Amino acid sequence: MQTAGRKGTSAFLCKLDAGLGGMCMRCKIGVISGDGIGPEIVREAREVLEKVAKVYGHTFEYTELLLGGASIDVYGIPLTEETIEKAKACDAVLMGSIGGDAKTSPWYQLEPSKRPEAGLLGIRKALNLFANLRPAYLYEELRAACPLREDISAAGFDMLIMRELTGGLYFGERKTEEVDGVLTAVDTLSYNETEIRRIAKRAFEIARKRRGKVCSVDKANVLDSSRLWRKIVEEMAKEYPDVELSHMYVDNCAMQLVMNPAQFDVILTENMFGDILSDEASMVTGSIGMLSSASLNDTKFGLYEPSHGSAPDIAGQDKANPIATILSAAMMLRYSFDLDKEADAIEEAVRKVLKEGYRTGDIMSDGCEYVGTQKMGELIVEKI
Ligand code: IPM
Ligand code: MG
Repeated sequence: MQTAGRKGTSAFLCKLDAGLGGMCMRCKIGVISGDGIGPEIVREAREVLEKVAKVYGHTFEYTELLLGGASIDVYGIPLTEETIEKAKACDAVLMGSIGGDAKTSPWYQLEPSKRPEAGLLGIRKALNLFANLRPAYLYEELRAACPLREDISAAGFDMLIMRELTGGLYFGERKTEEVDGVLTAVDTLSYNETEIRRIAKRAFEIARKRRGKVCSVDKANVLDSSRLWRKIVEEMAKEYPDVELSHMYVDNCAMQLVMNPAQFDVILTENMFGDILSDEASMVTGSIGMLSSASLNDTKFGLYEPSHGSAPDIAGQDKANPIATILSAAMMLRYSFDLDKEADAIEEAVRKVLKEGYRTGDIMSDGCEYVGTQKMGELIVEKI
């Protein structure tokens, strides 16, 4: 599998009077604004990146890429070779969201393989983005928006879901056909040991930089793919004796996430389970509008996108929360460009704005000040 690299990144020493000193980076960023609220949240994230560039003396070059519905409107398909090639020529890609309202959008009149979501799955596969990192963190300031009982949220939580992203049910063979006169649909859940090993390695490595715990989530009491998953994860664990490994069935994990989320550090799981659990984990943080994500391959390249969808019902109304996308941009600086200080600055700015009581609708609570998408972006820019 060909993977994208960081071909265009160049680092050179800043002049003493430029930025805050240190290395200046020139980075090529692919931008997929996408559909629904995508363009407005990406616009705010770019403003934030531009502020970072100015303060720290970096240069970010942007290349617009079409994906999903936006690509269907122009080319009739959700992902073109051109988008894949252009993405590969970038150091990282920042994405908003793709997809529309399945009931009303003409995109959903197309056959499933030509719909917006197929474009997203296609680019994940084409760029070999097998490791999807979804951090779920309870901000002190958002405790009031957390739907859990106070005695549970009081403990706080800070977990990272490591979701396998290019295997399993999403990419197994599928078909719908008539068998003996009865319509029958088949989806295939398959994993090989190589796929499991490489994602498990990522989970153990990141756990080392966190609190040293991995909880591997499967359904090994029923599924063969889960039994292999567990076996390989256990083998891998021997190479990381300093990391504490536990296993949990996915149904139990769904329950534990609302009963005692503080117990989790890194949750390692396959594609479909990770899709479901990450929505659940994000909602217990108060809003899915806060959750960033990084999809990585085995180079420095990554695709960064909020964990949430395209929310077509509020698109273009200046109502969407841009924070998940802004935090995804911070992840991009951290993981693809090694700009930790700059990523910290974005995260700190978000925290300050929340502390001052500014809220978009999804995280609104009593006594706070309501702001729209653009204002939220501006407030964060000001704090960098
Ligand atoms: C996600 C989304 C996607 C997925 C959809 C849009 C295909 O829900 O990134 O979690 O299921 O992976
Ligand atoms: Mg999802």
